[in-house]
Amino acid sequence: MALVLGIETSCDETAAAVVDEEFHVHSSVIESSLDQHRAFGGVVPELAGRAHVTTLGPVVQRALVDAGLNPHDPAIEGIAVTAGPGLIGSLLVGLSAAKALSLAWGVPYIGVNHLEGHLFAPLLEQSDLEWPLLTLLVSGGHSLIVRQSGPGQHEVLGETIDDAAGEAYDKVARWLGLGYPGGPEIDHLAQEGSPGNLKLPVSMTGEGYDLSFSGLKTAVVRATQKQKDLSVADVAASFQAAVAEQLLRKVALALEHYPVKGLALAGGVAANSALRLGMTELAKEFGIASHLPTMANCTDNAAMIAAAGIYRLRHDGPSAFDLSASPNWQLADVS
Ligand code: KG4
Ligand code: ZN
Repeated sequence: MALVLGIETSCDETAAAVVDEEFHVHSSVIESSLDQHRAFGGVVPELAGRAHVTTLGPVVQRALVDAGLNPHDPAIEGIAVTAGPGLIGSLLVGLSAAKALSLAWGVPYIGVNHLEGHLFAPLLEQSDLEWPLLTLLVSGGHSLIVRQSGPGQHEVLGETIDDAAGEAYDKVARWLGLGYPGGPEIDHLAQEGSPGNLKLPVSMTGEGYDLSFSGLKTAVVRATQKQKDLSVADVAASFQAAVAEQLLRKVALALEHYPVKGLALAGGVAANSALRLGMTELAKEFGIASHLPTMANCTDNAAMIAAAGIYRLRHDGPSAFDLSASPNWQLADVS
């Protein structure tokens, strides 16, 4: 069966995976330079790019060995690599490696949109899921509500007009003196607090599907400056409740207007306990399937890039060798 090697280097994860045309994952290796960035409270692009240069070779090697392959194995039909969006220096490392391997092995390569990759993650766990699908894609860099009529066929209904949901978590956590990344810290603390002790505004309550989180971040700053006696756990619980309420309201609105067969969650914020619970309840309420991929498939990985690459290779053919990285490549601009 034809296999595709996937490569992902858009942010701090260096990842490689081997996936077949039925989306079975033969291997998936992920290394992260997160520890190098913690002290800075966010990903430092220069450090991330340098880490990919030293890590990508061994990661690709391990993905091939784990899949029981030799580098020149004729079963490898192509190479899929993230070409954007992401950090330019990081993207260029993966893209250059993919072009070099493509030339050396004599197989085509394809530049994949990272966000489209996330949309393929549920297919890695259930290749026969029913369409159409509504996906909430929330990470440190992106927040989108997407309607998919089939694999590779997507329409962006709404997206954040300012910060991404994960970015808001990270910024609020920094303000509260918590570690980076802030999402898991706030999620954990929120279990010990009560949202009733601080009422935070829910943004974007009107019609339409766009999202906004920067007003909420400012509201947290103002409230904690005014009420010095608020416990950090209560602030975390209120913030978490306000983020989840905005996201779940928009998803419910989209489900009312666009009947779908399934509801999916993707991106790093998909680890959030309030969101996982709320999405499961919404799917039940609307009588549709819920797809909450495991965290390994929700966060950045190369298996999802390989899966999207298999689809794009079949439908659009390989990429040209003069393709460059696109740090701001929008999902809506994917052909
Ligand atoms: O998808 P991801 O691993 O990296 C990119 O942003 O591409 O997502 C990381 C983001 C960070 O902002 C992190 O704070 C957030 O996901 N995150 C969470 C949780 N776990 C990770 N946000 C809320 N609740 C969580 N449990
Ligand atoms: Zn991502």
